[in-house]
Amino acid sequence: MVFPSKAFLSIFFVVLSSADASPLRPVAGKATLSFAARLNVRGAVNIAAADRARVQAMKQAGSMGKRAAKSSFSVTNAIVVYTAQVGVGSPATEYTLLIDTGSSNTWLGANASYSPTSTSVDTGSTVAVSYGSGSFSGEEYTDTVHLSTGLVISEQSIGVASSSQGFEGVDGILGVGPTDLTENTVSNFDVVPTVTDNLYSQGVIGTRALGIYFVPAAAPDSIGELTFGGHDSLKITSPVTYVPLTTTLPASNYWGIDQSISYGGSTILSETAGIVDTGTTLVLIASNAFSTYQTATGGVLDETTGLLKITSSQYAKLQNLTFKIGDRAYDLTPNAQIWPRTLNTNLGGISGVIYLIVADIGSNSGSGLDFINGYAFLQRHYSVFDTTNSQVGFATTIHTDDRSN
Ligand SMILES: *[C@@H]1O[C@H](CO)[C@@H](O)[C@H](O)[C@H]1NC(C)=O
Ligand SMILES: *[C@@H]1O[C@H](CO)[C@@H](O)[C@H](O)[C@H]1NC(C)=O
Repeated sequence: MVFPSKAFLSIFFVVLSSADASPLRPVAGKATLSFAARLNVRGAVNIAAADRARVQAMKQAGSMGKRAAKSSFSVTNAIVVYTAQVGVGSPATEYTLLIDTGSSNTWLGANASYSPTSTSVDTGSTVAVSYGSGSFSGEEYTDTVHLSTGLVISEQSIGVASSSQGFEGVDGILGVGPTDLTENTVSNFDVVPTVTDNLYSQGVIGTRALGIYFVPAAAPDSIGELTFGGHDSLKITSPVTYVPLTTTLPASNYWGIDQSISYGGSTILSETAGIVDTGTTLVLIASNAFSTYQTATGGVLDETTGLLKITSSQYAKLQNLTFKIGDRAYDLTPNAQIWPRTLNTNLGGISGVIYLIVADIGSNSGSGLDFINGYAFLQRHYSVFDTTNSQVGFATTIHTDDRSN
C-alpha cells in the first residue's frame, strides 16, 4: 500500500485490493502476471473532462501525422491505475511499477533507488521520456527482470531515473505498449526492445499479443491479470473474437477499431472508427450519440464529476448499451453503465447518487475517433491487443453481468 509522501501534493492512491501480485503462471507460449487496480484521484475530479483532455491530445498528435502520434499517452494521469511488483537484478530488488499499455519504456528509480547487482550493465546511453503529465530522465541499463517468481527476462533494457516528475507512490513503469513508442528515447538507439519483445525473442511467448483481464473496481477480487502471448482461457466465458485494426485516421494511430453502438436496441452511433484504451476511465462517445443517450436515459449532467446522474427509478429502466464489433455484440448491462457507488466520494461525488460512465467525447461523429472503449468497458470484457496480427479481440468474462457497481 502506498501513500503520498508529501500531503500537499494531495494525490491519493486508494488501494482497491491489497492482494500481492501472485506468482506468474506460465501457460503454453504465454506468461501471466497479476496486478492490483488503484484509484489515482486528486480530490474532486471532473473525470469526463480528464478523459476528454486525453482524447484531445491524441487527436492533435494524430493530425500531425503518424510519427508525431507516437508520443506516449501513458496512464500517469489516469483515474484508475494498475501496478505490479517487478524484481530487477540478481538477487532481485522489488519495485512497484505502473503497468502502461500507452508507453513502452520500462524504468524505475522514481522512489526506491536502483541497486545494481552482478547482472546490471550500464549501457552508457541516456534515456528521457515525457508523458504529458510526467517525465523522467536518467541512464539506460540492461538487467535481469523478474516479472514474477519463475519468469525471468535477461538483458532487458531498463531506464534508471536520476530525475522524475509525476510518479509519487510508484517506482516507475512497466511499458507494455508497441516498440515504436521507444523511438528516440534512448541515446545511440533507434528503439529499444520492450519486455514483450524480449519475452518473444527469448522464446517465452509465441506471439506479440497482450491479453488483459480487468476486474470491476468494486468487485471483491479486484485483481487483474496481464497475459503476454495471447489470452488466458481460464478468464473468459466466450471465445475471443478478433477484428482487424481500423484504417481510419486518427484512430488508426492507436488501438483503433470500427464499431457501432445501440441503446435498448436502437442505434445511437452508426459504424465508425474509435479506439480501445486502457488509459481512459470512461466510455466516451461522439456528441450526437451522447445526446441521444442522455435523452434516452434521462441523465442530468453533474458539474463536479462531469458525469450524468440518474434517479433510482431511471436506473430501474436503464437498457443495455450494446457494442457491435465485427460480427459480435458486447453488452454493457445497466449495472455496467454506472460508476461504482462505493467509490462516489473518491471522485468528489455524493454518496448514494447514481452516476453514468458514458460521457461526451467532445465532437460529433465523423472525426475519425468517435468513441473510446475505456476501463469502464474493459472491466466487463476481456481484451487482447495483438501486434503480430494487427487485431484486437474481445471475450466475455464472469464479470460481464456483475451487479457490483
Ligand atoms: C519509497 O521507497 C522506500 C524504500 O526505498 C519505501 O520505504 C517507501 O515506502 C516508498 N514510498 C512510496 C510512496 O512508495
Ligand atoms: C443485456 O445484456 C446481458 C449481458 O449480455 C444479457 O444477458 C441480457 O439478456 C441483455 N438484455 C437484453 C434485454 O437484451
